[in-house]
Amino acid sequence: MNWLYRHVVRPVLFTQPAESIHNRTMGALGWASRHPSVCSALHSLFGAPRLPVDLFGLNFPNPVGLAAGMDKHAEALPAWHSLGFGFSELGAVTWRAQPGNPPPRVFRAISDQAVINRMGFNNPGAEALALRLADWRASGRWPNHPVGINLGKSKITPLLKAAQDYADSFRLLRPYLDFFVVNVSSPNTPNLRQLQDKAALDEILAALQEVQKESARTPGSTPNSEPPTPAKPILVKVAPDLSFEALDEILELAGPRQIAGIVATNTTLTRPQRDHPALQRVYAEAGGLSGAPLRLRSTEVVRHLFRQTRGAVPIIGVGGIFNAVDAWEKITAGAALVQVYTGMVFEGPGIARAIVSGLAESLRRAGLKELRQAVGIGVA
Ligand SMILES: Cc1cc2nc3c(=O)[nH]c(=O)nc-3n(C[C@H](O)[C@H](O)[C@H](O)COP(=O)(O)O)c2cc1C
Repeated sequence: MNWLYRHVVRPVLFTQPAESIHNRTMGALGWASRHPSVCSALHSLFGAPRLPVDLFGLNFPNPVGLAAGMDKHAEALPAWHSLGFGFSELGAVTWRAQPGNPPPRVFRAISDQAVINRMGFNNPGAEALALRLADWRASGRWPNHPVGINLGKSKITPLLKAAQDYADSFRLLRPYLDFFVVNVSSPNTPNLRQLQDKAALDEILAALQEVQKESARTPGSTPNSEPPTPAKPILVKVAPDLSFEALDEILELAGPRQIAGIVATNTTLTRPQRDHPALQRVYAEAGGLSGAPLRLRSTEVVRHLFRQTRGAVPIIGVGGIFNAVDAWEKITAGAALVQVYTGMVFEGPGIARAIVSGLAESLRRAGLKELRQAVGIGVA
């Protein structure tokens, strides 16, 4: 199936602009998501074997998740489980609806298996997203795996008011989702990455903690009048371009601000040196680079975070994962879970199943029974 995608489907898809193929694919998966029989068919083709992981008080049927940015509108929520993913991260969503940057804003560097994007958090806003999530909940088609969301800052909100912006989205969406990821690492919202500074991030996390306390204090105050929900795991997503010192500062907040985990990493502003003019043209585009050239740096960040915390702060490893070998690299460097985005663009809808099957094989070869035993085993 993956061979068919790589050699027959992908060459045709890659003749069209990246964003229009993305939109058409999301439209098709959204349609599939509204038809349970189509989801069942997808599941028999692409569903993954079980390789369970328990983390954040949640049960993940397997450790391979959908990374943020693919399903910003929660358009195809049920489909991600059918395609074999063990969890999905929707969004990024911002408090205010916004169109993002003008197109074109996604570019493929095909021979490097990479993508550059400067989408700029195009999304329908937290309120519209909450309605969509309520619909999926009511439809009975909510996927059988943990679902989280990536929270971004609205472009028009000044940095000084960022904490309020994140907290407003969190308050509204909190009842619907299993975990939340504070995204202060996208390169495509002006100055957003400054929020990775310890003091700024501390303020955001304090505001989110306050929301968690509010809900515990005031039963029935949630937007859909549900009973108060228990504290939801809040993770922070970091940029691969941060120094180890800056990462350590973020880790200092883990205890005091109850950071449940770190997602490492977002896209990079760095570019590989290339002689080929076509690649040079793509790499001259502004935006964040994802895919194969990001793999090693994001693994380095995972390894550093694991070494510093000795596994006390769980890590979701993301960046350049295309197959089980790449996923195993992240896990043995310290990732408890992994995510893919660009890998799916290049490897197709069978990617989660292929990675999970390969990871099960790697575990057997290493003589281990559970995935958690492999986390960080490569870190000296
Ligand atoms: C088109 C596109 C849009 C993205 N949007 C988001 C986003 O909204 N929020 C976020 O945290 N990461 C976003 N990402 C980053 C991915 O979630 C992931 O961290 C990054 O691409 C590295 O993983 P990969 O090499 O598997 O793609 C986006 C990536 C791409 C390619």
